[in-house]
Amino acid sequence: MKDITNSMKITIPAYSRNEGLARMCATAFASQLDPTIEEINDIKAAVSEAVTNCIVHAYKDKIGDIQMELRIVGSDTLYIRIKDKGCGIPDVKKAMEPLFTTSPETERSGLGFSVMESFMDKLKVKSSEGKGTTVTMTKRLVTRNEQTDR
Ligand SMILES: Nc1ncnc2c1ncn2[C@@H]1O[C@H](COP(=O)(O)OP(=O)(O)O)[C@@H](O)[C@H]1O
Ligand SMILES: [Mg+2]
Repeated sequence: MKDITNSMKITIPAYSRNEGLARMCATAFASQLDPTIEEINDIKAAVSEAVTNCIVHAYKDKIGDIQMELRIVGSDTLYIRIKDKGCGIPDVKKAMEPLFTTSPETERSGLGFSVMESFMDKLKVKSSEGKGTTVTMTKRLVTRNEQTDR
């Protein structure tokens, strides 16, 4: 594995207002890699979905902690880990299927994991019922030199 060249860890309570805070922290951290607007929007969308899942699914009737760890790996890769100690997911494979949701009565679309998968390069979900869920995502940010038009 390449060297970790910077890192940050925050722990926030699962209040819905903290979703925006987590998103801003992630993009502020990622700004060191000089991302494009599109890359920033991708990161925002993925973090937003993962943190919202902690707020609405992991901690249904209480306010638990959400831990977000960010790392810059090597010169161009952003690593994000979002962890909760909530209810966990009984069947991760099923939960990751597009349109699958356990909250059809709300405005949930069942596309959270699909968004994370499509906007980041890699997505890994580990979960244990009653113990919590950890979502790990990485994205390589194309450096400005490599880009032909922007
Ligand atoms: N952190 C989590 N803790 C517990 N369950 C989760 C978590 N994240 C996702 N899930 C489960 O996976 C399902 C699919 O998640 P997602 O694709 O984001 O769709 P949605 O949030 O719209 O239901 C959720 O409905 C929920 O059952
Ligand atoms: Mg969701």
